Amino acid sequence: MLGADDWPLAREVRLRALKDSPTAYLADYEDEVTVGEAGWRERFRRMQWVVARDEARVVGLASSVRVAGRPTYERHIESVWVDPRYRRNGVLRAILGRLADEEPDVTEWRVWVLDTNAIARQVYERLGFSPTGERQLLADGSGRREIRLRFGR
Ligand SMILES: CC(C)(COP(=O)(O)OP(=O)(O)OC[C@H]1O[C@@H](n2cnc3c(N)ncnc32)[C@H](O)[C@@H]1OP(=O)(O)O)[C@@H](O)C(=O)NCCC(=O)NCCS
Repeated sequence: MLGADDWPLAREVRLRALKDSPTAYLADYEDEVTVGEAGWRERFRRMQWVVARDEARVVGLASSVRVAGRPTYERHIESVWVDPRYRRNGVLRAILGRLADEEPDVTEWRVWVLDTNAIARQVYERLGFSPTGERQLLADGSGRREIRLRFGR
């Protein structure tokens, strides 16, 4: 788990993720690169951030946020990314396990996945997530939709 003073590390990995997998996210590199210390510290007040490491190298990232108006036992997962050289080795599984350990009272996680991101959808389903039936059309005119998945323990 990262602490608030680790925001530069979270920022660096998030920017790596956006460069590596631009089609997986709604945010883009050009916008995110403008978010500085104040913006990142605000994110750390609202969200838990976890990284996976291989010795000194950071190889994965995810965040978990309590959404206003939603039940206290529910979290929304965002910014999920694993370094391509480390994929299919259980890194995301370990990251989500770490987030679950950190908040034992949380029993339900939700995530939005782009309908064009078939691999991520397959991965989440493999990890036990299932579709809630909710879909939303992106406002960017691309015709893409987001699909919502949930996991309960
Ligand atoms: C999606 C992503 C985070 C998965 O990370 P990962 O560390 O490779 O995932 P894991 O190794 O923990 O795999 C979890 C399960 O999914 C399966 N899986 C992983 N990659 C897969 C693939 N490409 N195709 C099919 N199944 C896959 C694994 O086999 C594992 O199941 P198992 O334990 O039963 O074998 C990674 O592919 C990624 O960073 N993609 C680009 C960014 C992205 O799409 N982020 C999600 C935005 S919503």
